[in-house]
Amino acid sequence: MSAATGYDVEAIRADFPILSTRVGQYPLAYLDSANTSQKPQVVIDAVADHYAHHNANVARAMHKLGLEATQAYEGGRARIARFIGAARPEEVIALSNASEGLNLCAHTLGSRLGPGDEVVISVMEHHSNLVPWQLACQRTGATLRWFDVTDEGRLDLAGAEREGLINEHTKVVSVTLASNVLGTVNPVARIAAMAHAVGAVMVVDASQAVPQMPVDVSALGADLVAFTGHKMVGPTGIGILWGRYDLLAELPPFLGGGEMIEIVKMDHSTYAEPPHRFEAGTPPIAQMVGLAAAADYLDGIGMAAIAAHERDIADYALEGLSGLKGLRILGPTEAVDRTGTISFTIDGVHPHDAMSLMDSRGVAVRGGHHCARPLHERFGIQSSLRASAYLYTTREEIDALIDAVEYARDFFTGRTMTAGAGAGRHH
Ligand SMILES: Cc1ncc(COP(=O)(O)O)c(C=O)c1O
Repeated sequence: MSAATGYDVEAIRADFPILSTRVGQYPLAYLDSANTSQKPQVVIDAVADHYAHHNANVARAMHKLGLEATQAYEGGRARIARFIGAARPEEVIALSNASEGLNLCAHTLGSRLGPGDEVVISVMEHHSNLVPWQLACQRTGATLRWFDVTDEGRLDLAGAEREGLINEHTKVVSVTLASNVLGTVNPVARIAAMAHAVGAVMVVDASQAVPQMPVDVSALGADLVAFTGHKMVGPTGIGILWGRYDLLAELPPFLGGGEMIEIVKMDHSTYAEPPHRFEAGTPPIAQMVGLAAAADYLDGIGMAAIAAHERDIADYALEGLSGLKGLRILGPTEAVDRTGTISFTIDGVHPHDAMSLMDSRGVAVRGGHHCARPLHERFGIQSSLRASAYLYTTREEIDALIDAVEYARDFFTGRTMTAGAGAGRHH
């Protein structure tokens, strides 16, 4: 436990059964939480308890279990609304993941687009906040434009202002709150103000932010915010789209099917009010129960405390990694306005090779383009390694990371670049 902050990372780790996994002689250092987070026992138990004792379909089954399941599902919606500061539960739409939420945005807002209109994204977007807008622009004749990033991995706001990126043609601005590669936290409120000044809708991909820091959608300045359950210690199979209610009420349906309708005739239908208009078919019921348990768990620790812990870990990791020869860190090298996600390359070593070798030493990182190819191209590379921390990450795991990176670098380049390279640290 940190005497200064009271943050007890060992107690938190004890809540996650998977973290005691060993990889051969090595303890697992799970540094792939930006990909998906691990789950605490309370979330696993909540899902199991739902299936064991309360399982039924929602809304349409009026028997005892049907009512229990409906209450659990709608209670989960209200819990998530509270977690993100939504004005009312009806602003919270449950989908299968963040990608579906962003596709919903692109599809429904796309119905308002035409030739001459512009959609603005950024070069640091995950493909989930890029491809749906490409498709919308291809369908409608609108033009896709984007913010560049600076060499330090911050959004190039000055460049955007110089070239009038957001202008009277802009109908939608959609950017990520936190980059899944660079860790950069973007000034979304400022960008939202620019978008609103020209009457554009502001969409935010908060997939890497909601798990890591306090996010209050009412203070963000956004109109629509998407995130995904599995990155915030919740189950896979659920993503959330929050929207300002008056905007949601104006938007057409995305997918058609059961439960999203009001009246159905053979030649036409009318649609339910939000959020049900956007939840066609059986929703992620058990996943919503698990996600509500995840919100309880995270709030029990405190999102501000989690963000502070990540800053501390990011600081420690950035310091350690910056000291390694042959390493290039992508993105901000100071733990300011950034999450604990750090991507880097090792000179002369392919990320996949390094990843495999690090894996054999128990260090789980991701190697590849992390669903952000254009961002890698922007930095003149094809792929990178990514280590991503979360509420359960320890300094010892970062030591293991640094050891494994040195080991991989020296193994693949066939030379020793620093004194003591590969020597085991205290893990
Ligand atoms: C920034 C960002 N946006 C969107 C997504 C997509 O999330 P999902 O795969 O759960 O739809 C991810 C996940 O990797 C992400 O990091």
